[in-house]
Amino acid sequence: MDGMDVTKETGTFLCKTGDIPESGVLRVVVAGYPPLAVYKLDGGFYATEDLCSHGNASLSTGFIESGTIVCPLHFGSFDIKTGEPVDAPCSREIETYPITLRDDDILVSKPDR
Ligand code: FES
Repeated sequence: MDGMDVTKETGTFLCKTGDIPESGVLRVVVAGYPPLAVYKLDGGFYATEDLCSHGNASLSTGFIESGTIVCPLHFGSFDIKTGEPVDAPCSREIETYPITLRDDDILVSKPDR
């Protein structure tokens, strides 16, 4: 291994931690991922796909309420941490993406499955 570059890719840069206020959400588009909604919730950072699973709505233009993101179109909602649908008419989960922090950088990686 001597002399080899062992730098490991730990994720794709999304934005800075300071770009998202507490209980806020930001839409971020990066190569290799669908448009993402990136959240700050309870001091932690989370990412889900931005597209509502019920229709053609951008979840990042909705609002956060009790740990859920409420869709602006029909007011269905999803659990931000798990992507599970919470309120009707949403019935299909949305994808969630693992986040890692590197100093002030928020990095995203592919889901484990
Ligand atoms: S498009 Fe999101 S609840 Fe209908």
